[in-house]
Amino acid sequence: MINIALLGYGTVGSGVVEVLKTNQVSINKKAGDELNLKYVLDLRDFPGDPIQEKIVHDYEVIVNDPEIKIVIEVMGGVEPAYTFVKQALMNGKSVCTSNKELVAKHGAELLQIAKEKNINFLFEASVGGGIPIIRPLNSSLTADEIDEITGILNGTTNYILSKMADEGLDFDTVLKDAQEKGYAERNPEADVEGYDACRKIAILSSLAFGQQVDYEDIYTEGITKISAEDIRYAKKMGRAIKLLASSKKVDNSFYAMVAPVMVASTHPLYSVNNVFNAIFAHGNVLGDVMFYGSGAGKLPTASAVVADAVDAAKHLDQNIVTFWSSNKLELSDIKNSKKRFFVRIHDDEVKAEEVEKAFEYVELIDAGIVGEIGFVTEVLTEAEFAAKAEQVEGIINYIRLED
Ligand code: HSE
Repeated sequence: MINIALLGYGTVGSGVVEVLKTNQVSINKKAGDELNLKYVLDLRDFPGDPIQEKIVHDYEVIVNDPEIKIVIEVMGGVEPAYTFVKQALMNGKSVCTSNKELVAKHGAELLQIAKEKNINFLFEASVGGGIPIIRPLNSSLTADEIDEITGILNGTTNYILSKMADEGLDFDTVLKDAQEKGYAERNPEADVEGYDACRKIAILSSLAFGQQVDYEDIYTEGITKISAEDIRYAKKMGRAIKLLASSKKVDNSFYAMVAPVMVASTHPLYSVNNVFNAIFAHGNVLGDVMFYGSGAGKLPTASAVVADAVDAAKHLDQNIVTFWSSNKLELSDIKNSKKRFFVRIHDDEVKAEEVEKAFEYVELIDAGIVGEIGFVTEVLTEAEFAAKAEQVEGIINYIRLED
């Protein structure tokens, strides 16, 4: 029997208990041993819930119990999760977590401790919820040099953008609907400003490139400025607006960015809608590969966490090598990265001339919206675009294009 402790009995924590119970027999078969949930750490009590008999309020009970071999951390946030996880690893307990803030900030250090202790720090659920992506990057795509990862990594924003496109509604109306349906938090900032996707692409980039990518270095734009009009233009162009989190290796430079992008209908992420996530990767020998599924939610996330616990049980005294050095990867300034840009500008008599003078070649887009001009530029670096955009007044919004 392998004893487990669960830190946090919130949405994902209760999902973990449910998954362990629902699939107990097959999980134990796959783990090669019985997984026994011995403790659940939470500040609260749950009278009437069978979990109450496992509830402890003091972490010392867990971290000092030599019977506990695996700790599942699903509390979220950096502290006290970091302190608890580090103590668990130092005491020889493998840790499985869904906590992207923790992994993005301290992943390299926690992996190093796990390596030194010959145990495991596993974090499949921290990116893409139930979609297997960490293990494939770490164990399956090992013959490749990964030169691109682009993902729709946030279910909330993908739901909002999909609903805006389907129903022609504006951002605020759809955000409210998403909050009512439980797809968006009451404080939606981390999702709609792109911070959540930023931490997730930092984790994927660190794994893909084998070095620490600091999320603070990643250029991040959210979706709050996307309007119903932007979506009308996108439709006119046969495109969809998606919040893409992307990192690419171009020659010997690494670029990473989170931003809303108008993707062409031929793009593999074009059809990923509603709360679904998908991650597209390109390897130098494999070519393209894509992972799609439920990127959030109680049971999909719990499924990934429990799968990590099974893996930890199968490798109790054996570290699974993970290639993520704490040496910082210097990202290149995005001013050198190249794209086409879609631009909307208030129309008046001189605007068309101004636009032509500044941008030389543009493709005009008529989405039937009066009082403005919409156009697409040729391929420009971010710096070239910014310099040209400065020469014209009245820009309403601009969105990058990806084919
Ligand atoms: N708010 C996140 C999302 C939850 O919508 O994807 C999963 O990390």
